[in-house]
Amino acid sequence: MQNDDQFIASGEPKSSIEKASFTWEAPSNIALIKYWGKTEPQLPKNASLSFTLSQSKTITTVSFTKLERPYETVDFTLYFDQVKQESFRPKIATFFKRIAQYIPFIHEYSLVIHTKNTFPHSSGIASSASGMAALALCIMQLEKALNPSLSEVYFNQKASFLARLGSGSASRSIEGPLVLWGKHDRIPQSSDAYAIKIPNAIAPIFSTYKDRILLVDKGEKQVSSTVGHELMVDHPYAEARFTQANKNLSSLLDAMETGNLARFIHLVELEALSLHAMMMTSSPYFMLMKPNTLAIIHHIWQFRANTNLHLCFTLDAGANVHLLYPENETEQIDAFINDKLLSFCQNKHYICDNVGFGARQLP
Ligand code: PMV
Repeated sequence: MQNDDQFIASGEPKSSIEKASFTWEAPSNIALIKYWGKTEPQLPKNASLSFTLSQSKTITTVSFTKLERPYETVDFTLYFDQVKQESFRPKIATFFKRIAQYIPFIHEYSLVIHTKNTFPHSSGIASSASGMAALALCIMQLEKALNPSLSEVYFNQKASFLARLGSGSASRSIEGPLVLWGKHDRIPQSSDAYAIKIPNAIAPIFSTYKDRILLVDKGEKQVSSTVGHELMVDHPYAEARFTQANKNLSSLLDAMETGNLARFIHLVELEALSLHAMMMTSSPYFMLMKPNTLAIIHHIWQFRANTNLHLCFTLDAGANVHLLYPENETEQIDAFINDKLLSFCQNKHYICDNVGFGARQLP
């Protein structure tokens, strides 16, 4: 059983703060072992493992001003790209409702939130992971200012814990390069409540990995991940899937520790297709891959058979394709992508990213 009480900010703050403003940037992440299926409150049915990204990120500034009297809910105004955004309010209000019990001091402040992403809003790339992580970190920075004795370990764990309550995968957007969320036998310190940086040494080649995100479909998804997670509740293959994911996670860690690239490729692609197989066998069934997603996958398999290079793909809950490959093979792989794959992207659009090392505070 996890103990969430450890994350309730305790007692009287050690210092008093009338006004403060903090800025954090938090990266997006791409799951290698997929989280799909959860229970309340946002607890995963299996452990997941992700690469932290470096270029796709959210930058958030929160200005806190002390109120004369504590506010019943959380008093906030939200600007996205400098424009006041009423449409994002409900999601953020729900987030604050969920986390308020852990940060009681928040009721004493009025918050002005300015947020922006480094990737285009309509790219089919979800900003909830980086967005919730950046917001959680700004709040943790206020907690740290009120209580300077907080340790770095506690700070990161609680930031991940709070971000998780906003969006599950956001728990994995605090640290890097390889992050685990969910209790797993192999890593005793793992937890369903927050994500941790993988403590084992992984082969250095994985820290050089590139992620070229091919934007096959930039539109809104027909089925949200919230609905997708819910459809796992009565899914006939759910239990087998959760067992498979935990096993794949263990095998993937073996492959990453020993630098076994062939095994890495096999497991990462197996996970991507297993995730989409769950969608296609849900009731009601749905499919987020598009014809161009499949065309890209077939080209990758052919390219690998021809060259023995280590290009592989993964998918998140959408039609876009993440191409993963080590830096020392960039020249030939980039030439192949530019030549053969870009024509399958909407307006030939893609995002160049690479493995990153986590969120950071900006001055
Ligand atoms: O964090 P959510 O609820 O948006 O779910 C994310 C689900 C996947 O992106 C498909 C997998 C994952 O582990 O990130």
